[in-house]
Amino acid sequence: MLFDPIRIRSLQLSNRTVMAPMTRSRAVDANTPNALMAEYYAQRASAGLIVTEGTSPSPNGLGYPRIPGMYDAEHVHGWRSVTDAVHEKGGAIVLQLMHTGRVTHVANLPANAEVLAPVAGACPGEMYTDTLGLQPFSPARAMDEGDISRAVEEFARSAGLAIEAGFDGVELHAANGYLIEQFLNPNVNARTDAYGDGIEGRNRFALEVTRAVCGAIGADKVGIRLSPYGVFNATGAFEEVDAQYLALCDALSGLGLLYLHLLDHSAMGAPPVPEEIKMQLRRRFDGPFILAGGFDRASAEAALSEDRADLVAFGRPFIANSDLVERMRAGAELNAPDMDTFYTPGAKGYTDYPTLTS
Ligand SMILES: Cc1cc2nc3c(=O)[nH]c(=O)nc-3n(C[C@H](O)[C@H](O)[C@H](O)COP(=O)(O)O)c2cc1C
Repeated sequence: MLFDPIRIRSLQLSNRTVMAPMTRSRAVDANTPNALMAEYYAQRASAGLIVTEGTSPSPNGLGYPRIPGMYDAEHVHGWRSVTDAVHEKGGAIVLQLMHTGRVTHVANLPANAEVLAPVAGACPGEMYTDTLGLQPFSPARAMDEGDISRAVEEFARSAGLAIEAGFDGVELHAANGYLIEQFLNPNVNARTDAYGDGIEGRNRFALEVTRAVCGAIGADKVGIRLSPYGVFNATGAFEEVDAQYLALCDALSGLGLLYLHLLDHSAMGAPPVPEEIKMQLRRRFDGPFILAGGFDRASAEAALSEDRADLVAFGRPFIANSDLVERMRAGAELNAPDMDTFYTPGAKGYTDYPTLTS
């Protein structure tokens, strides 16, 4: 099943593998995609669908060093070289829109940017900067309603630019403790206005962003990634988690979205997402469903044949194996990923892993 074609909404895909979104920090010049990035993605075009690394819709969302943006003409031009290279090889590619919110340091941001989050204060912990090394996260200013509507507009405008750059759609990053999840999670979102204070309020920003992006490019081009039970970036467990995500899922259903992408980072040491909530979300969401986190060929085939998902995403295996699909099909061994080069600039550990034929 994993290697069978599938149609999801507007997109005909050659197989059911998804390359999971992965930050690789190679956009060394003005957060703009370049020829090396085009080569990297083109090498992986035999995935049924590529989801790009997290890409910021706003100068304010460029929290990590050298991550790409999608808010100006240079970004559109750079990304066009990536989408052309992937499409020439018969692949499909969507842009992951990631606004880092409070998960940031000012040294990583352009001069005109500001650290914004649902609430004031700094994310606990530290992050890497190119100029100052490891630093405590920078404190955020709490977003007022004007900031919130500007952020919603930035997502919608950026999605429009993604289509202009040739993407087949976008994925909203509402997982892993970035801006959208900062609104979803009550351990972060202590607001008492309409954007906090209970399940409906905490879901409001995610839904406003989703509806605005759907309005800009059409719901059949919009996927969303969620990580209930996630703890990354100082989010953490909370009592109403099932009720919150089921309400969110119900509200997302009916919009006609491209897909819902659910991740479980227990393979990376995070608390597991109970099977029960995964299945409830799968059943209640009215569109294509992707599972991610710790899959290999056998567990992916099992998830598909047991109807727990329509597609399965692979992250680290795609870093180290540009020909992952061919290798899994052939039952060949996989290269192991080199963690030391996950985020370093240049071709090493990026485009130079051996393929079966090289
Ligand atoms: C180097 C690296 C960068 C990542 N960057 C992102 C990202 O930008 N956006 C995102 O949603 N997830 C990101 N992830 C999480 C992956 O998409 C995926 O969920 C995770 O690696 C688990 O899947 P795996 O076990 O197949 O690797 C990243 C993971 C890795 C290893």
